[in-house]
Amino acid sequence: MIPLSLAEIAALTGGRQHDITDPEARITGPVVIDSREAGPGALFAAFAGERADGHDFAAGAVASGAVAVLATRPVGAPAIVVDDVTRALGALARHVVGTLGTQVVALTGSSGKTSTKDLIAQLLERLGPTVWPPGSFNNEIGLPLTALRAEAETRHLVLEMGARGIGHIRYLGELTPPRIGVVLNVGTAHIGEFGGREQIAVAKGELVEVLPPAEEGGVAVLNADDPLVRAMKTRTSARVLLFGEALEADIRAENVRLTERGTPAFTLHTPTGCGDVTMRLYGEHHVSNALAAAAVAHQLGMPAGDIADALSAAGTLSRWRMEVTERADGVTVVNDAYNANPDSMRAALRALSAMGSARATGGEARGGRTWAVLGEMAELGDDALAEHDAIGRLAVRLNVSKLVAVGGREAAWLDMGAKNEGSWGEESVHVSDAEAAVDLLRGELRAGDVVLVKASRSIGLESVAHALLDEGVSNEGNEGGVATR
Ligand SMILES: Nc1ncnc2c1ncn2[C@@H]1O[C@H](COP(=O)(O)OP(=O)(O)OP(=O)(O)O)[C@@H](O)[C@H]1O
Ligand SMILES: [Mg+2]
Repeated sequence: MIPLSLAEIAALTGGRQHDITDPEARITGPVVIDSREAGPGALFAAFAGERADGHDFAAGAVASGAVAVLATRPVGAPAIVVDDVTRALGALARHVVGTLGTQVVALTGSSGKTSTKDLIAQLLERLGPTVWPPGSFNNEIGLPLTALRAEAETRHLVLEMGARGIGHIRYLGELTPPRIGVVLNVGTAHIGEFGGREQIAVAKGELVEVLPPAEEGGVAVLNADDPLVRAMKTRTSARVLLFGEALEADIRAENVRLTERGTPAFTLHTPTGCGDVTMRLYGEHHVSNALAAAAVAHQLGMPAGDIADALSAAGTLSRWRMEVTERADGVTVVNDAYNANPDSMRAALRALSAMGSARATGGEARGGRTWAVLGEMAELGDDALAEHDAIGRLAVRLNVSKLVAVGGREAAWLDMGAKNEGSWGEESVHVSDAEAAVDLLRGELRAGDVVLVKASRSIGLESVAHALLDEGVSNEGNEGGVATR
């Protein structure tokens, strides 16, 4: 981050200095919320969590080199004491971004924010130094922490913005005002909390409302294929750039198909040229994400051919999102256990089905059977039964060889949907927990099989993928308290 003295930080946050001997001592970054990450030059922001209180670790952070602590009470170490640490981080981020004049690109949507953020980052890095968050640092804590990593030479700052209610994106947008704002889609994630899709659209659309007008360089990048997103063009004075497969999209995909490997390929059309894209990422939902990223890169001056090359080279930067691993015995495990909602469940099932077909034509020895190990999609409110039932039915319609529904009541609904759509009842099996799923799969899997593992974050179904891959359980990919939708 740009160096700031403790006196400046106190002034910016409205905080009081405690136990500080040198108010001119400077924070050079990073700003951390985990005391174990504190090192020389750091500012440790203390949060009181459910299990631990950061204030108890303040002295340790300073011993490791942190210059000071941002806290809500004196901690017996140099501290700037504020009423609200989250707000204080926001004030610092606003100052840093305002001072630097970095090009800020923000994106939101119900699904695909992190995947698209990672694509945008991989494109913009080719144009100049780019800062982006790890994983899903997309809320009122994760976003400022990311913005505070920007430095004088940072050309682009790519920010993911999540919302759990009305006003959240506006708050984030005002902290780090974007010039380019991307809205991917309005799905059903957190629909229970929002109270309906229209409300979700209201919340996500706040991003285009905070953009500067067209004359000042504001650009709203909107999904032409999603009516609720497209309609947001009336809520902004920024220039609108549409992406999608719709003919009127400025950034368009034509001839979308799946390669033999099961990854999407398409011809990219931009107002200044075309290019062929063959993605390394799995799942046709990434076409939409790639177009959104292409629109941003186009806006920032990247030629179409370079965009197509960069999209074709892009890999996954964040774990557990369609993470494909082939075992030595020829079984492929697709770990998409980071999260699930009805939209992403459908996209993942279609990807699974395509991967199965690709393998079935790859040679006789390869069976190409597909297994969907699915768990609950949380927070669906009154729609929960219908949505789980529909996913179970879709698995059968896509010819997934076997659905393994894991868990309680919601898993029973998945299983019931599949059984009602199928004919023999063998299309699906319901097991009570991850362990039972692993036991079942261990006895059945053979070369050429593809196994998709997916459920909502709270279910922790990555344990199934880890067990199938003989990996220990790690915390990677679990981004704790810094992510919301
Ligand atoms: N455009 C898309 N449409 C539907 N599903 C998608 C799309 N892009 C990604 N997904 C799926 O959605 C899930 C979450 O992806 P990702 O982490 O990129 O989204 P996110 O919006 O950042 O999620 P979160 O709100 O949890 O931060 C993954 O399982 C992925 O397969
Ligand atoms: Mg995310």
